[in-house]
Formats: sequence, structure tokens, C-alpha cells
Amino acid sequence: MTDAQLPRAALISSDSTFVTQVKQLLTGPDRPLALELELTVPLYQFGESQVQAVRALGPELIILDLEESQELGLQLAQYLVEMNPSQLFIATGPVLSGEQLMQAMRAGVSDYLTKPVLAEDLRAATVRVAQKLRKTDGEKQRQPGRILSFFSPKGGGGSTTLATNLAIVIHRTTKGKTLLVDLDLELGESAMVLGMQPRFNLVDFAENFRRMDAGLLASYIDHHSSGIDLLSAPFKPEAAEGITADQIRRILAFLRQHYDYIIVDTPRSFAPPSIAVFEQADLVFIVSTADLASLRNIQRGIPLVKRALTKGEEQVRLIINRYDPKDTITVDDVERSIGLKVFWKVSNDYEAVMGSVNAGRPIVLNGGSPYTRDLAGLAALVTGIGAQLPSRRSRIARALTAPFRGMAGRTAKRREGGK
Ligand SMILES: Nc1ncnc2c1ncn2[C@@H]1O[C@H](COP(=O)(O)OP(=O)(O)OP(=O)(O)O)[C@@H](O)[C@H]1O
Ligand SMILES: [Mg+2]
Repeated sequence: MTDAQLPRAALISSDSTFVTQVKQLLTGPDRPLALELELTVPLYQFGESQVQAVRALGPELIILDLEESQELGLQLAQYLVEMNPSQLFIATGPVLSGEQLMQAMRAGVSDYLTKPVLAEDLRAATVRVAQKLRKTDGEKQRQPGRILSFFSPKGGGGSTTLATNLAIVIHRTTKGKTLLVDLDLELGESAMVLGMQPRFNLVDFAENFRRMDAGLLASYIDHHSSGIDLLSAPFKPEAAEGITADQIRRILAFLRQHYDYIIVDTPRSFAPPSIAVFEQADLVFIVSTADLASLRNIQRGIPLVKRALTKGEEQVRLIINRYDPKDTITVDDVERSIGLKVFWKVSNDYEAVMGSVNAGRPIVLNGGSPYTRDLAGLAALVTGIGAQLPSRRSRIARALTAPFRGMAGRTAKRREGGK
């Protein structure tokens, strides 16, 4: 295995003897892992810049010294695991009680080495981790995920609301790993619909894409309490200027390897990045209201969409949003004027939509409503798995541990202001 392929390790310890010992093992020949980051500040001084360094590296393993304070060390482990759930830990320190060991395991520690650490024990633990990582890589030979693109040819057609809520329903019904990608890079609003303040966005992700792997991916993704992941649009539209169609193609191909469903809120534009999404998508959903201006835009745009299709016209599905049987323009009129069958209708459901806006929660998490019912049906049709209506209560995200909670808040605020 070349150096670039070795799993990356970070060391957090202020004990110079232990640091030397780890360096000897993980920087020498035959090393099972590559030590790429050493953080030697005392645990009580561990702050944002250290967290940023860990985040930037995205190590597969962290070797964590708990000698100074087991409590603070385990809180840090918990915080880092929240940031990157696939991260593994080897911890070291004094003899721990059974209860403390359990606590360490709950915080994600897979091996605990009592100090003074024997060189062979340290080697055996790191070899075990390296083997485990290779095995996990093997398990990741999964079926590529499905890309579903949602696109409204006229402003306000309902693509963001639909993509966001459908992602949640698909995740709940299939239990599949689901990612919502907000490709409306100029004015994306999916984070707002989810009621989230994302830490990262697609532009950060694209900038670091060259060194992307499963570990780093996890640190660029925001996790919503409904269970779906989000790759949001940047807060400032100008940040997206440099993103090319080719980058979008490569990013989507990569995401397919890591998610079962990738739901893309695609911008209302026929610029190359949108065309790249149409090419890659398994299904392109055109979301439109039944009014003349929208239908005219679809008529004008559909040749461009069709030209980008790689799997034939079956790839395109038309959804009538805000459907009302009393509408003057009927489903027949729509089908005749556009030359596409209507695949699904989503009710005009002002009450549920406004309720969700006011509550800052996606509609499908707010209990039953015509909108939720329609999305359950759509999800069942798209995934082939019977939809169940979601429970009223969403899972509450695990709270961050106390000393690091403030740090997370500050980081989020800084990003919001700075990007
Ligand atoms: N089925 C529905 N019933 C009632 N209101 C809806 C429905 N679907 C969407 N809306 C409302 O319509 C408005 C536009 O929806 P949304 O932002 O999802 O559209 P969009 O196509 O993403 O728009 P944009 O072009 O701005 O990206 C929002 O205020 C949303 O709450
Ligand atoms: Mg939108």
C-alpha cells in the first residue's frame, strides 16, 4: 500500500513520552496507519483551531490520551464523533473502572490501552484498526445510489419544498442513506426548509473534492434530525461562480457510491451544471403548477432537458404541484400541451405549507396533511416500497456535550457571517 492509501491518524496527547512512542510507530517503515496530525495542547486548552485541524484532515483514527482528564477527553471524543460518525478512536490513560470503560466505548473508543503503553500493544491496536478500516472499505462495495433531480422551469413551482420533504419520506420508508443536495447554488433554500444552519456547503465540498473519501465526506455533510444528510448551497451566491458542469458530474458520481438516494434540488436554469445533473440523474422530475406561464416555460425548456437525457425519455417525470381539481387547466390540457404524461399530482395545501414555514420544520414532520399523504404516495411509487405516514415526533438530535457545545455554536455563527 502506498503512503497516500494508508488510513490517516491524528494524535491528541500532551504527554511527550507517549507522543514519541506513537510517532516511532506511525511514521516508520511498515506502519499500518499514517500519523498526519499531532495535537499536543493540554485537553483543557483544546479549542476551535484544533477542531478545525481535525476537521480539515478527516482522520480515520484518532489516538486520544485521556490521562489529564478522562471526563474532558471522553467529551471531546463524543464531540468529534458527532462531527464525523465514521471516526475510530484508540484511547490511552490510567486504569479505568468498568463503568468508565463502558462510557469510553459509548463515546466511540474501540481500544483502550493502559499507560505505560507497551510498544507491541500499541502496534497490535493500530493494526486492528487498519484491518477494520480495510474491511469497512470492502463492505462499502454497495449498489450505486439513485439520483433524483427536481426542477421547476418557472420560479416558485415548488421544487425545493418537494425535494426536501420527499427526501425525508424516502429515507423514512426505505431506511436508505439519503442525501439532499441543494444545487440551486445561487439562492438555494433547502437548509431553510429544513430549519438548519449548515456548517458547510457544496462549494467547500467541491474545493476539497480532490482528497475526498468517506471520512472527509462525513465532515462536509450536515445531518438533519429527520435522518437525512444535507449538502447545502452556499449562503453567498457569488461563492458558486466557479463551479463547473464537470465538477458536478464527478461529485454526483462520487456521492452515488456513498448514498442510496441522492435528491438534487436543481436550479431553474439550463446552464451546464443543471444539464450535468439531468445527464446523471436516474429520474428528472419537472415540478410545475398548472398555469399558462409555467406550461409555456416547460414547452420551451423540455427540448434542452431531453437532449441531456442519457437513459431516454422515461427518465423525465412530470409532477403537477399545488393541484386543485377545480383548476381551469386540467390534467388533460397539461398532458396535451407538453406531450408528457402527468406522473403525480401534489395537492395545493396552503395550511400544511404555512404551518411548516411557521414552525420552521419540514411539512412531512408536522403530522398528516394532504401534502404529506401525496408525498407518501410519490415516495412509494419512486422507490417501490410502501410508504408509511411519519410519526408526529421527529428524533431529537443528540445534544453536544457541554464544554464543546459553545464551540460548535460559535463555529456555526462565524461561518454564517463569513460565507
Ligand atoms: N403543494 C403546495 N401547496 C401550497 N403551497 C406550496 C406547495 N408547494 C410549494 N408551496 C409554496 O410555494 C412557494 C414556492 O415553493 P418552492 O420554494 O418550493 O418553489 P421553488 O420551485 O423551489 O422556487 P424557486 O424558483 O424560488 O427555487 C413556497 O412559498 C412554498 O411554501
Ligand atoms: Mg427553490
